[in-house]
Amino acid sequence: MKKIAILLFFSIAKIVIAQTIIPKPVSIVLQKDSLSLQNITQIIVSDSILLSYNEFIDSSLLPNYSATNSIVFDTALPLSTISLKINSALTQQDEYVLRINKESIEIEGTQKSIFYAIMSLNQLLFYAKNDKVACQIIHDYAAFTWRGMHLDVVRHFFPVSFIKKYIDILALHKMNTFHWHLTDDQGWRIEIKKYPKLTQIGSTRSETMLEKHFDPFQGDHTPYGGFYTQEEIKEVVSYAEKRQIVVVPEIEMPGHSIAALSAYPYLSCTKSNFTPRTSWGVSDDIFCTNDSVFHFIYDVLDEVIALFPSSYIHIGGDEAPKIRWKQCKVCQQNIKNHNLKDEHELQSFFISKIDSFLNTKQRKLIGWDEILEGGLAQHAAVMSWRGEQGGIQAATTNHAVVMCPGSHCYFDHYQGNQKTEPLAIGGYTTLKKVYDYNPIPKDLPQDKEKYILGAQGNVWTEYIQTQEHVMYMAMPRLCALSEVLWSPKSNRNYSNFTERLIPHFELLNKKNIRYANAMFDVQSYTKGKKTGLFVELLNDIKNSEIRFTADSTIPTSTSKIYTNVLPIQKSSTIKAQTFIKHQPKGAVFSQDYFIHKAIGAKIENYIAPSESYNQGGIYTLTDGIVGNVPWTSKEWLGWYESDMSLTMHLNETKDIFQMQCAFLKAAESWIHLPEEVEVRFYNEKDELINTKIIHAKEIERQYDENKSLWIDVNLKIKKINFRAKPLNKIPAGMPGSGLSAWLFCSEIALL
Ligand code: ACM
Ligand code: ZN
Repeated sequence: MKKIAILLFFSIAKIVIAQTIIPKPVSIVLQKDSLSLQNITQIIVSDSILLSYNEFIDSSLLPNYSATNSIVFDTALPLSTISLKINSALTQQDEYVLRINKESIEIEGTQKSIFYAIMSLNQLLFYAKNDKVACQIIHDYAAFTWRGMHLDVVRHFFPVSFIKKYIDILALHKMNTFHWHLTDDQGWRIEIKKYPKLTQIGSTRSETMLEKHFDPFQGDHTPYGGFYTQEEIKEVVSYAEKRQIVVVPEIEMPGHSIAALSAYPYLSCTKSNFTPRTSWGVSDDIFCTNDSVFHFIYDVLDEVIALFPSSYIHIGGDEAPKIRWKQCKVCQQNIKNHNLKDEHELQSFFISKIDSFLNTKQRKLIGWDEILEGGLAQHAAVMSWRGEQGGIQAATTNHAVVMCPGSHCYFDHYQGNQKTEPLAIGGYTTLKKVYDYNPIPKDLPQDKEKYILGAQGNVWTEYIQTQEHVMYMAMPRLCALSEVLWSPKSNRNYSNFTERLIPHFELLNKKNIRYANAMFDVQSYTKGKKTGLFVELLNDIKNSEIRFTADSTIPTSTSKIYTNVLPIQKSSTIKAQTFIKHQPKGAVFSQDYFIHKAIGAKIENYIAPSESYNQGGIYTLTDGIVGNVPWTSKEWLGWYESDMSLTMHLNETKDIFQMQCAFLKAAESWIHLPEEVEVRFYNEKDELINTKIIHAKEIERQYDENKSLWIDVNLKIKKINFRAKPLNKIPAGMPGSGLSAWLFCSEIALL
C-alpha cells in the first residue's frame, strides 16, 4: 500500500464553534474533547485511487491556513494525521463517516463519497478558526440522487472560469448535477464540428432587449455572443467530475431553436431567414419534422455524447407552439404516414425517435414536462417545471422524474421585496419556500416515490447579465435546496438553518461568493379590524430584533424595538429593519398606510379573485395599502374572465364624500382598467339611495397618478354593492391582443 502524506502547519487561535455544516449531516455525535489542528501534520491516503483527492485537499482544505502551509511528502504516522480510507461496507447513497479524534481525523467512504467528507471537513475547519475542532463523529448520507443546479448560458453567456466557480459552489454543498442549458432562441453555445455555422452564425445576436422593453422593443444596439469550444467543454466536464458532479447538457428541440434555424434555415418548416432572437419568450418557429432535421439532431447528439459522459441527455421539449407544423406539408404528411392524431402526437413521435436514438448509445433522454403531451416516450425521464403535476403523472407511469416546479425551484424569481431587489423575471420564491420544499409530492402513491430522483434549482438568465448576479440569485437558495436534497426531512428546521446560514455567509464572503440578504428582510401582515388597522412585523431570524419608525426615518440601532402588533391610528409610513447585535441586516422595510372609513368593514357575497392572485385574501382591498408599480402579487388581487363583485358593510352609518378604487394598469402583463364600474349605495335602512355607473372612457380619463379611479359620493351610507367588469378583449397592438384582460385591484377606500 502506497502512502503519501502531506505535511500541514496550522496557526493558532482559541475558538471552538458548534457545527454549522450545510447541508446538515444525518448524524453528528459531539464528544467532550477537541482536536488541536496545529497537531495535525499529515494527510494519509490509504488507497492509490484516492490520490486524486490530494490536489483537492490541497485546494479545499489548505486555503483555511494558506498563510503558513507547505506540502511535504513523507511516510505515514498513525497519529497527527488526516486519513482517507475506502470502506465498502458503507452502502447508503453517498455515505461517509468523518471522525474528529483528539489527535487525528479519520475519513471513511467510497471513492466517491470521500469527496463529501472532505466538503464537510472543509466547512468544519473554516469554523475552527485555525485551531480547535470539537471531537465528533459525523455519519452522513444523501436523501436524493439528483441534486441539481441549472444554468442558462444562452440568454447571457458566462465564461469557463465562472462555470468552474459555479461548480465549486455546487460541490461545496454536495450537489451532484449541473444542468447546462446550452442552446436556445438567442444563441447556440456549444461548438459542433460537423455544423460550424451553429456557432459562426447562431452564437451571436445583433443586440439585446433593454430591461422589459418588449413593446415597443428597445434594444442596446450591441451584438452579443459567445460559445464554448469542445476543448473547453471537456475541461468543464473533467473539472466537474473530480468534484463528483455530472454535467447534463441540454440541447433544445423542437422549440427554442431559432439560433439553429438561423444557421441552417432548412431545419425549419418555412425555410425562411432567421436571426437569433434579441428578446425573450416563445417563438412560433421550431424545428420541422423532415428527415434532414433528424439527421442533423443525430449528428449533433453524436458529438454531444462524445463530450458528456452523463447517463442523461436533456433535449428540452418545452414551449413548442404547433402553428408551423399545422401549416407545413411535410409535418402534416408525417402525421398521416405515422397514424398520428394531431401535432401533439407528432411532438411525441419526434421525442420518441430521439429517445430511441439515445438508447442505442446507452444514454437516457430527459426533457421538460411538455414531453408528456401526446404521450411520453418509452424510456424518457421528465423534468417537472410547470408545477408538480407532470412529475406526478410521469412517476405514476413508472418514469424517472426530476422536480423543479417554478413555485419553489426557479431561482430567477424574486427572493425578496421587489422594491429593494434587482429586476427579475417575476415570481416570489423566498429562501423559506425553497427550504420547505419536498420533492416527493403529497399525492404520489408511496410505491411510486422511488421514481422521484430529486430536484434542481433553475437559473434562467434573461435578466441576469453578470456573474455576480448569477451568484446573487442562486445564493443562498442553493444552500436551502442542498439541504432539501441531502438531509433527512426529519432533520430539517428553517430557523435552525438560518442560524447556521449566518456563519456560512462568512465562508461565502471568504470565497468572494455574492449572495442575497433577503432572508433578513422584515415581512408584514396587515389586518383591518372594527377597532382599526393593525400591522404585524416579523422575520424568521433567531437572536435578532426588528426596529421600526413611524416618522419616515430609516430605523437605527436605537429605534423602537418591535414587540407587538402595531395599531396604525393615522395615515403614516412604517419603516422597519432587522438588527443583529446592533447591526442592520437585509433591506429596509417601508410601507405607507392609508387610514380610511372602509377599514374594518365586512366584505360579503364576493367573487373570489383568481387563485394565482389572491395571496392576501379579499381583505387586501381594505388593508390601507394602495398597491405599487412595479406590482407585487401581495398587494394586488386579480380577476380573470370574471367580474370583481362584492358587498361592503360598514360598522355604522358614515358620511362618505368620496370613494377611491385603486386599479392596476400594466398592459405588458395583460392587466387593464375595467370596462365598467358600478357602485350602489345603501343607507342604514338598507334602502338603495344612489347608483353610479362609470364606463371605460370615463375610467380612462379619470385614472390618475395614484393608480386610482375616484368617485364622488356625498352620502350617509351603511352598505355598498360594488362591481367592476374586466376589459373583455385586449385591443390590437398590445400584448395578448384579442384575449381577455386581467383586472387588478388593491384597495377600495372610503373617505
Ligand atoms: C422552462 O422554464 N421553459 C423550462
Ligand atoms: Zn414542418
